[in-house]
This record gives sequence, structure tokens and C-alpha cells, in this order.
Amino acid sequence: MKRLFFSLLTTLSMATFAVADEGMWLLPLLQQMNSKAMTDLGCKLTADQIYSINHSSIKDAVVIFGGGCTGEVISNEGLLVTNHHCGYSSIQALSSDEHNYLENGYWAMDRSQEIPVPGLSVTFLVSMEDITNQIVTAEEQLRKTFADSADVDRLVSTSMDSWRQTLVDKSNEQNPNCRSVVTSFYNDNVYYMIVYKIYRDVRFVGAPPASIGKFGGETDNWMWPRHTGDFSMFRIYAGADNEPAEYSTENKPYVPKQSLKISLKGYGEGDFAMIMGYPGRTQRFQTADQLQLMMDTHDVSIAARTLRQEIMWKWMEKSPSIRLKYANKYAGSANGWKKWVGEKKAFKDLNIIGREQQKEADFMKWVSKNKKRQAKYGSALQDISESVAAQREARLALTLLTETTGRIELAGLARDFSQSVDDALESKKDTAEAMRLALDDMKSQYDDYWEPLDREETSALLEHYRKNADPKNYLEGLGGDFATMDLKKYANDLFDNSVFTSAEKLESALENGYSHIMKDPAFKLVESIMDGTMKYFGAMYSRDDNGSEGAKAFTAGLMEWQKGKPMYPDANFTTRLTYGTIKSYSPRDAVKYNYYTTIYGVIQKEDPDNYEFRVPEKLKELYQKKDYGRYAMPDGNLPCCFLTNNDITGGNSGSPVMNANGELIGLAFDGNWESMSSDVMFEPDLQRCICVDIRYVLFLVDKFGGAGYLIKEMNIAD
Ligand code: ARG
Repeated sequence: MKRLFFSLLTTLSMATFAVADEGMWLLPLLQQMNSKAMTDLGCKLTADQIYSINHSSIKDAVVIFGGGCTGEVISNEGLLVTNHHCGYSSIQALSSDEHNYLENGYWAMDRSQEIPVPGLSVTFLVSMEDITNQIVTAEEQLRKTFADSADVDRLVSTSMDSWRQTLVDKSNEQNPNCRSVVTSFYNDNVYYMIVYKIYRDVRFVGAPPASIGKFGGETDNWMWPRHTGDFSMFRIYAGADNEPAEYSTENKPYVPKQSLKISLKGYGEGDFAMIMGYPGRTQRFQTADQLQLMMDTHDVSIAARTLRQEIMWKWMEKSPSIRLKYANKYAGSANGWKKWVGEKKAFKDLNIIGREQQKEADFMKWVSKNKKRQAKYGSALQDISESVAAQREARLALTLLTETTGRIELAGLARDFSQSVDDALESKKDTAEAMRLALDDMKSQYDDYWEPLDREETSALLEHYRKNADPKNYLEGLGGDFATMDLKKYANDLFDNSVFTSAEKLESALENGYSHIMKDPAFKLVESIMDGTMKYFGAMYSRDDNGSEGAKAFTAGLMEWQKGKPMYPDANFTTRLTYGTIKSYSPRDAVKYNYYTTIYGVIQKEDPDNYEFRVPEKLKELYQKKDYGRYAMPDGNLPCCFLTNNDITGGNSGSPVMNANGELIGLAFDGNWESMSSDVMFEPDLQRCICVDIRYVLFLVDKFGGAGYLIKEMNIAD
């Protein structure tokens, strides 16, 4: 199997240029794979201006925002813009019933009003280096060393782990204040050492109210035509040396190596557009069997979330306070739910599995033509199939367990508490202090907790689990026979007797000591869920069989098959570039969607009786007066959102959309309903990236938010 590396490397280096649209390309390979196609499409930049490790380039302005989004630096004073839905959890955490920034929006009117966000970080890419050859050579040497041992695979794998760690340690030493990681690409066929620098003093600068930043809510989510002002702004702070520093009033705004210029000139259909960012996960190299299991898993998740979201929403509608507490939990759940519903529909409409099967048949035909290929790739698909079959039951069971019992917040609170206490005890704190620290850690969780909601969810989710689980997987240790016990009564007893239902109860329970708290009924539930989880995880991981080897061989085979055509690896939260054009589309027969929307659409969608479609008075006034300032289009209208045919996925949220000069024209924030299968297959005719226009963003900062002073620090192209 190890020989695969070489054929793959040759394939990569022989690649000719890619065509447009499809592809989440690796920045270090742009010159080799993409620059000609980009120039042909109208790009005016060289690959070196986009990505260089020797001098500043666009990549120095594009960051990982928090744990799973992208952001970009738009001033020399560390001002950053990302999506509203990316800032969402931070904005919620800073909000209270009295100061509800999520609901009402917020703008710092000077630096002193910028609000620190504990726990939020911004990560810069410092460098990435292909270390595949080093890894292959090291592994080959180890294989020779251990050749005579019966246990050669295990010995090689453990030695490789420590070999890698040494490499990481060396890189960390050479790059102070940085974090180095070895990341694999193309299903373990290529490896890069990636160096990141993480800034931890990040402050909230401002955001529009939810009625703009999340306009259209879950109804419009994943859909076009769109009218959402999906952006929020933050500022990165650094120590006196411009290096990362913990929060301090002494810190200064970070001075970036590069910040993005902004264009207010707009775009037309067919104009070049590119997006740089951190796409999370795609499944472009999965087989039909893997995809089928993915669809079946979706069914399990969708059913459980439908139930849970109904309960959450019912409570959220009761009061603004509960709505605020559950805003982020609901949005996260609903976003995944709708994505899977759409993905299932698109799989059917676009015959994704059938097309994948056809591709596999063609691939096998190619493999069978040649002995060498047969030896390398002949068993790949079979290996994957067997592994999928072996894991299937465990995967579905684990999904059911995590989407039901895994969502019982009370169990999560109890588990987090004991985890925190254990951590504190390990760092030699005494028990009383450890419990105090754990309680402090959990205060913010209780801020976002509503006991009656959790109580209702718990009995409903347990009931759902019982109805759908195989009886052999029923929970044990809950004080009765799970098959027949009264789960509503169980939940009520649990919530009546547990101290984890509120921070106050937990606090007063601390006096009775840790061993007393450990007798809390919530721990019985935690244990019972953990037992189930371990059982399924065990079953899943012990039955990989040759699955990962198969995936590695299949990917390598595909690359050899398509030799000469450049291939991009699956998304894996590393930085990528996608390029294409501004483009309209036809969602179905006789219907054509324009490539941009305007504020007029916001007014048209207004529905004062529907929380998701309220329009703030001030926005209506600005609309009536056509007071759009320099942000209007030449025809006097105010642009809102637009479409490109760029190839993105979750994680790209907040990514800069740039024109041919690398100037910011918008922020990517969503995909469209007709191509929800896009993580698996790119659809040139249907797949679009939904972006918010930077002119709408700046109009909202300036005219609506009254924070026009921020525009002065930006670099607006003339
Ligand atoms: N669908 C978007 C994504 O996954 C997130 C949009 C968030 N908005 C919302 N209404 N939930 O990137």
C-alpha cells in the first residue's frame, strides 16, 4: 500500500490546469494547477499575490474565526468581518435580557466600547509545507528496521507517531507563538505541516439586529432568493509586540501583514469571483455504499431533531428571555436538520447514488485493464463496502443515541461538572476549591439553560429512543426496566431530585461534599448513556477492517485514472481557494433566478406577525428615503445578496468574496436548496454560493448602525 504515495505525487505534479467553478484548491498548488484557468477567467492577480510564505499576500488577511468559520481583516487596525451566524454564539454570550445585542444589534462607538469575548480566538495561517516525502521515507526506513518482527504494522505505526511528534516539536520551536500540526490530504495520500498563529484577545465591535443579520430565519436558510444581512464585526488585539496575548487593557489593535481592500463598484454576471476560506468537510471521494449509509444516518438525525426542535421552539416563543437562551442551540440544530432534509431531496432529484455507482463501474473497468492497477486498486471498493457493512448497525445506533439521550442537557451539565472537578483535582486543587472552580466554569451554561424545556425534552427524547432503538440497546441502570418503565415519571423524578437543574441548587449542594453530589440521579443517566456510547464506539472502530486503507487506495486510483486533470482534496478545515464567476441560475423549468437581490426584496418579504420576517422601522425609513449614500448601485437601488458559482461548504461561512483584483465584494454565507448534495458532488448548472454584498454590509454599519466612523479605517478602492 505504501507505494501509492509515489504514483500519487507524480500524478499531482503532472497535473495540467483545472477548469473553473468546481474545486476547493490548496493554496500552495495554485501556481501549478490553477493560475492559468484563473487568468483566463479574468483574474488579475498572480498566484504569488494570493498565497506566498515569503511576503505578505491575501492569505494573511483571511483567518479561522472561532472554531468553525472564516473571517477577513479589513483594516490595518485589526478590524475583522465575518457572518452574523458566525458571531452568533459570541453575541448571545455577551447579551442579557437588559442588553440583548442579538435581538437589537450593537455598535461600539469607539474602541472603549468594544467588548472582549472570552474564549473567542482568531487563527492565522503562517505556512504550510508538503512533508509527504519525509513521511514516506521515514516509514520505509521503519519498515526495514522492524521487518523481522511479527508485529511490524503496530511497531511502525507507534514509531511514526513519535516521529511526527518530533517534527511538530521542532516546528513549534522554530515558530514561536505558533501551533504546528501535521494534516493529511487526499485520504492519507499527502501530508502537510501547517503552522498557525492564534490570537485570543478578540473583541466584539458590532452587528445588526437579528431581524437583519438573520432575516428570513430558518425559512430562508439554505435558499435563494435571499435578503439576509449576515455579517458581524470584531477586532483582533495583540501585545505591544503585535504577537498573541491574553486579554489585557494594555493590548493594542493587531496590525496585520495584509488587510483586504474593499470595492464598492459591484459586479455583473460573468465577472470573476474567488473565495478564500476554511471549508470544513466534504465527501467527494466517498463510494455509493458510504453515501447510502450517510443518507440512512440522516433519517435518524432528522427524526430526532424534528421532535427536539418543536419543543425548543414552543418554549422560545413563550418569552424573549428563553428565546435568547436557546438562540444558538436552536440555530445549530435547525441548520443541520435543514441541510440533511435538503441533501436527501437533492440525492433523489439528482440521482447522486446512481451517478456514483456509474463512476465506480467505470473506474473498475479501467482498473481491470491492467495487472498493476488491479494489484493496487482492485480491492479498494470491496474493502470499503465491507467496512461500511460492518459499521452500519453501530453507526445508526450511535446516531440515535447521540441525537436523543446525547441532547439531554441535564446529563451534559452533570458530566461537565465532574469533568471539571477531575481536571482541577489533577492540578492539585483541594476538593472544595475544585468544586468551586467547576461551578464557575459552568455559570455561562446555566445562563443559557431553561429547566422546564430540558425536562420536557428529556422525557420526549427518551421516549423517542425507546420507540426507535433495537431493544438490545435499551438503556440500563435507570431504576427500572427500560422497555416498560414510565419515562415521563422517570424524567420528573430526575428533575425534581437532581441538583444540576440550577446553578443555585448546585452551589448549595457543594456544602455536602463531592461524594454526596456524585450520588445525584443525573450521574446514573450519564453512566447509562456513556455505557451505550462506548459499546457503539467500540463496535465502530474495531470494525474499520480495511476501510481506511481502501479509501486511501480508491482516492489514489481516482487520481491515477484522471491523470493530467488536477484534483483537489476533500475539505478538512484547511484553507482553500475556489474561483469562478458571478452567475444566475434556473432552479426548475421556465424559472430563472437573477444573480442579485436588493433591499426592495426585504420590504416585500416583511411580515410583522412572523418573527423571522420582521423589518426594523429604521430600515424601512432608509428605504423610503432611498438614503443609501455611496452604497447604492448606479441605478439608485441598494444591493443586498448575490450569487457566484464558487465551490464552498460549511466552514466557509464568513469567507471573503473577492473580484479580479482581490478586492472584497461580499461575504459567502450559504449554499442553495437545489444543490444540497454539493458536499458530495459539484453541480455546475445548479450549485451556487450565496453571498451578502459588501455595499449592504457597509450601508448597515454606516446608515443603519450609525457607526460610519469605522468606514474611515477601511481601505476602499477607488
Ligand atoms: N446555512 C448556513 C451554513 O450552514 C448557515 C446559515 C445560518 N442561518 C440560519 N438561519 N440558521 O453555513
